[in-house]
Amino acid sequence: MSQNIIDRFRLDGKTALVTGGAQGIGEAYCFALGEAGAKVAVVDINRTGAEETAHRLEAKGIAAIGLAADVTDPEAVSRMVKTVVDKWGFLTIGVNNAGIGVWQDALLQDYKEWKKILALNLDAVFLCAQSEAQEMVKKGYGKIINTASMSGHICNTPQNQCAYNASKAGVLHLTRSLAAEWAPKNIRVNSISPGYTKTALVDNLLETPEGKIMLPQWLAKIPMGRMGGTDDLQGGVVYLASPASDYMTGADLLIDGGYCCW
Ligand code: NAI
Repeated sequence: MSQNIIDRFRLDGKTALVTGGAQGIGEAYCFALGEAGAKVAVVDINRTGAEETAHRLEAKGIAAIGLAADVTDPEAVSRMVKTVVDKWGFLTIGVNNAGIGVWQDALLQDYKEWKKILALNLDAVFLCAQSEAQEMVKKGYGKIINTASMSGHICNTPQNQCAYNASKAGVLHLTRSLAAEWAPKNIRVNSISPGYTKTALVDNLLETPEGKIMLPQWLAKIPMGRMGGTDDLQGGVVYLASPASDYMTGADLLIDGGYCCW
């Protein structure tokens, strides 16, 4: 083993892009990857938010750019990858994280809404991974990390969210499929499945009348007794992005405070 184990977690000389990087989990990933040494492209449909996150990274001495892209648009996804490669020469790490969550009973599920959720949470993950891998094969090395969810493993209760659950289960199996296909090309594809994590996505749901009665029920089901913070996910993304995980592909890191144990 040539390198010290802590050095194998470093990302110096690597470039990363993170979708949904303006806020929440994506923002925490941007800081984690940047603090570990990578240059970071913050990608979001919210241009101002992406640029603000990039400025805050730069203020910490991290090389960063903020990019606007709607990752459900295949042309915008190609442009996003091309911009990173034009700027820094190559792409080492792609974190496909942008996603939305909606509660809806299956009997009332609106089909347009279903398609919107699947388009962002699953289709866009494929589009991003494909564009990223097309660049990574040129260098013969790459790390793709998809954001799945514990909802890809279990069906949350008491809220109903079949479209979200199905989209995240899709991300888990897409991850395994791409991992097997691209392993010979030296591209690793893994996922992280967060449990309930305090971000705007969850805060907005919890502010609704049904959300307010839901929180105690959620907490009762989490063995650790609390929701996660975005910082609880940062170690996982650095591990999967770094040479320390080079023999790991097609795997999912479940970071849920033990929710799926019961
Ligand atoms: P968030 O709502 O705080 O952040 C999502 C970001 O994605 C926002 O900045 C938003 O502008 C961006 N975005 C939305 N649509 C986009 C599009 N079409 N193109 C580009 N960017 C777009 O959400 P949060 O909580 O940070 O979630 C991030 C990911 O983590 C999602 O995939 C979510 O499903 C997943 N997740 C979140 C959990 C939680 O409890 N917060 C639990 C499990 C998974």
